[in-house]
Amino acid sequence: MKKVKHSLMVLLLATSGCLFAGNANAEIQDASENRQLPLVTNIFGRQSLTLCGQWNYIVDPLENGYYDYRHKPLANGFFQNKKPANPSELVEYDFDTSPTMNIPTDWNTADEKLFYYEGTVWFKKSFNYQHKQGMRAVLYFGAVNYDAKVWVNGQKVGEHVGGFTPFNFDVTEVLKDGDNFVVVKVDNKRDQDNVPTLNFDWWNYGGITREVLLAEVPNTYIEDYYIQLAKGNAGLIEGWVKLNEAKAGVEVTVDIPELKLKQTLKTGVDGKAQFSVKAKPELWSPEHPKLYQVTVSKADETLNDEIGFRTIETRGREILLNGKPVFLRGVSIHEEAPFRQGRAWSEADAHTLLSWAKELGCNYVRLAHYPHNEHMVREAEKMGIMVWSEIPVYWTISWENPDTYQNAEAQLRDEITRDRNRCAIIIWSVANETPHGDARDKFLSSLAKYAHANDPVRLVSMAMEVTSAQGNMNRLQDNMNEYVDVVAFNEYVGWYRDTKAARSMVWEIPYEKPAIISEFGGGALQGWHGSVDQRFTEEFQEDLYKANVDMFERIKGLAGTSPWILMDFRSPRRQLFGVQDFFNRKGLVSEKGIKKLAFYVMKDWYEKKKNNE
Ligand code: GCU
Repeated sequence: MKKVKHSLMVLLLATSGCLFAGNANAEIQDASENRQLPLVTNIFGRQSLTLCGQWNYIVDPLENGYYDYRHKPLANGFFQNKKPANPSELVEYDFDTSPTMNIPTDWNTADEKLFYYEGTVWFKKSFNYQHKQGMRAVLYFGAVNYDAKVWVNGQKVGEHVGGFTPFNFDVTEVLKDGDNFVVVKVDNKRDQDNVPTLNFDWWNYGGITREVLLAEVPNTYIEDYYIQLAKGNAGLIEGWVKLNEAKAGVEVTVDIPELKLKQTLKTGVDGKAQFSVKAKPELWSPEHPKLYQVTVSKADETLNDEIGFRTIETRGREILLNGKPVFLRGVSIHEEAPFRQGRAWSEADAHTLLSWAKELGCNYVRLAHYPHNEHMVREAEKMGIMVWSEIPVYWTISWENPDTYQNAEAQLRDEITRDRNRCAIIIWSVANETPHGDARDKFLSSLAKYAHANDPVRLVSMAMEVTSAQGNMNRLQDNMNEYVDVVAFNEYVGWYRDTKAARSMVWEIPYEKPAIISEFGGGALQGWHGSVDQRFTEEFQEDLYKANVDMFERIKGLAGTSPWILMDFRSPRRQLFGVQDFFNRKGLVSEKGIKKLAFYVMKDWYEKKKNNE
């Protein structure tokens, strides 16, 4: 009944479009409408006004608030947040009488009528603001899925595509003292040329899915900084502080009181100050997740942060953390909220998911398939969990489309920028399960080079795949092995192929690099018990895990595993009624937090691994 009503509503709107005979049309794209700034880092360490909470929203399947009936952009669309000047004036929308949603959230779980919805939703938030002498106002979004167009007080301030990385605008000039409003047009429609592309195995949660903040910074502010150990040198802290302007001679200070380390520096003509200083910090590790209070400041600005110091390298087929070989006892995680479903975004969500990973015996997690929220990474750091962070270059992207490449590289740039000081992150992954080919190789090798060029320390990888065996011989072969530091691959022996054959399988990884199994596993409906041969019983999944971990013992140079997946998650590709019900059931924990039998197989194997270290 509900779905029918919905499509009826769409129909009604469609017909009304032409009747609406819009007012004056005007091209609306010019420079003043792009007030986007390079990413301002450590946003939670800055003075800011939160814009989280209730936002009014208007569902707009035909983008009626943006285009006129000739599909020309409107000059006076919904972004004007217009009110009738008199009772007879026709204005066919009103945010203030429209329903509200508690931001951050995805709209799919916030409004059941939007569960399947892909399209445009408009959001409006009113707030009070007073300008402060010498200060700028930066409007910051943690993430908006997928295509965001933003207006403040009816003035366009910019756009952003990509659902999992932050972006910000300088709105100082468009704000008024007193009442203000921000309007965001969000569209999560999928497209072949997007990143991710049309087809992906997770729910396309739409909306303003992470925090929105109005940060206040001095006119000349500290835009970004980097403070980490030099590559492979636990005795040298190096880094830089970058202003938003190419201003020379500005004094900035990096202070780590516990290390009695205080660097007072002067910026160069590029507005950047570099440093490199001998130091003997306690090294961060899963066993000892030591973080230092760090202050980055200048005369009129102080930023506090918590930073850990560790070295991460490879040596042959080993991964070295702080110079010592380490086995990555991991699990893959989607940014799906435990218990309530929907997009996870909060510290509490992160803590719950990571606590289950800890219980499993993990010292590492693969955050799939897109950059997760900053709380997830900072919580992992506090809990002593190493992190693989990935951009959603997933399955079959438009490899030959330069805009698609720019989009992917921008997501990688912003991911690295936001998290460059997070010692928990040890691996940047630039792709997952991508089809071999020249255009793909060019695309991915460029991304891998970009990551290496923009991060002197962390390892680079991607999730390759081994989808078949010759007899019982599985062999990893991928041209991209040259461009990565760690060769990772997904294998589904026992689920998508070679059911019950894992115990006789052997592997060949012809690369002198550490190898990680970035995915393996199978589905089970929690609570369904039966024979080990019955798909989706816990016993089938348990047996699959037993066979796979047995198989792992025979893989030379295996440096880590991250089974697919910690918790059942929503996916539009999982339609087995009564079993999947739009959940990928490969979790070791159900979406309600109940552990399945296979959880304990992995826990025992990690226990054994830990004791053998
Ligand atoms: C793939 C893919 C995942 C997907 C999983 C599955 O390997 O990387 O995103 O969910 O397999 O099929 O369950």
